[in-house]
Amino acid sequence: MRTQVGIVGGGPAGLVLSHLLHLQGIESVVLELRSREVVEATVRAGVLEHGTAELLRKTGVGERMDREGAVHYGINLQFGGRRHRINFAELTGGRKITVYGQQEVVKDLYAARLDAGEQIIFEGAAVGLQELDSPAPKIRFRRGAKLDLEAGGIRFRDDTEEEEITCDFVAGCDGFFSPCRSAIPEAVREEHTRTYPFGWFGILVEGPPSTEELIYALHERGFALVSTRSPEVQRLYFQCDPNDIVANWPDERIWEELQTRLDTDDGWTLEKGKIFQKDIVQMRSFICESMRHGRLFLAGDAAHIVPPTGAKGMNLAIADVRVLACGLTEFYSSGRTDLLDAYSEICLRRVWKASRFSWWMTSMLHRFHDDDDFRYRLQLAELDYVTSSRAASTSLAENYVGLPMEPALGAHATERGQAAPSAS
Ligand code: PHB
Repeated sequence: MRTQVGIVGGGPAGLVLSHLLHLQGIESVVLELRSREVVEATVRAGVLEHGTAELLRKTGVGERMDREGAVHYGINLQFGGRRHRINFAELTGGRKITVYGQQEVVKDLYAARLDAGEQIIFEGAAVGLQELDSPAPKIRFRRGAKLDLEAGGIRFRDDTEEEEITCDFVAGCDGFFSPCRSAIPEAVREEHTRTYPFGWFGILVEGPPSTEELIYALHERGFALVSTRSPEVQRLYFQCDPNDIVANWPDERIWEELQTRLDTDDGWTLEKGKIFQKDIVQMRSFICESMRHGRLFLAGDAAHIVPPTGAKGMNLAIADVRVLACGLTEFYSSGRTDLLDAYSEICLRRVWKASRFSWWMTSMLHRFHDDDDFRYRLQLAELDYVTSSRAASTSLAENYVGLPMEPALGAHATERGQAAPSAS
């Protein structure tokens, strides 16, 4: 099999890349380990930065997002039993966020890719990358893959054998446990990691939202977050021990804990509903430098992970592939490699800033096990400052709605960071 860009991973990064390349007349093949049904049913992130939503809209895949997603013009920070609104629109010149689940973004992109007659190989696992330093790198892969978490690996159907895709470039969009990243020799790969000493217990609930906009709360017992997925589904989280297990939390205990952490002086109560999913999310920062090795480019979780407190994960993944699509477009239209050569540096500047923001939000809003009263009082003072100073709230707001794209993209990106319709 031959294609221009071989994309390993059919999540938001891989699919947006394939979509942007298609708009520029560049061919790609996407290899996705899981089945379409499994990816479409997996609930992950849910907040789109202003520029991410604009990109999807401007490139023709934002129609359902505009119909079904919820536009939020601010968020609430809660501490000391009071809620304070950060007004994004006012502080950032009208910018906003859209709450629309990652799996919905992925559904829209699958539909667009398959409508365009493009290839997505579902249940296809990359088993090796070869000749990454040559102009014709190869992806060895096998169909009929099934992720077997209990066995700790991938099983294959008996009737399949290894195949090969020869490409001009490989995009490693294959998530945190990225086989593509492992193909970069350790000697040339620098990894930066921070593990936070807590997790998030997350629930999905059938029922109307308890609040119009997200609530991030710091309470003596720890962090809590009220988010939403749709008018019928709520998403809530609370800080927990990272080694805790779902079985320790019957529904009543969850509601009690959430209500305690979200109590306000004016007696606000949560809208309860049927809990239909419980999970525990680990909190970690991870950054791989460089994001490029020869003709392999890493994007999204394969290259970096942020704790979810700043809602940056999916947005960073999409920002990476915007840069990559611009670089590849430049290469195919003029033979120049300036942007591809700058890919890692351009992406990492944004990634480090988003990692800083996520770390800052996490530190401000969680209780650490070695916390003393002094640190807790400093956290409250910081929240008081952030919610009462226009300069401090503006800093939070501009990071939350998304920093502008790199000026280094020059003619390839407009001021707000959308891909230019063509490279010329
Ligand atoms: C979510 O809805 O899943 C969500 C929202 C905001 C965050 C993290 C997760 O900061």
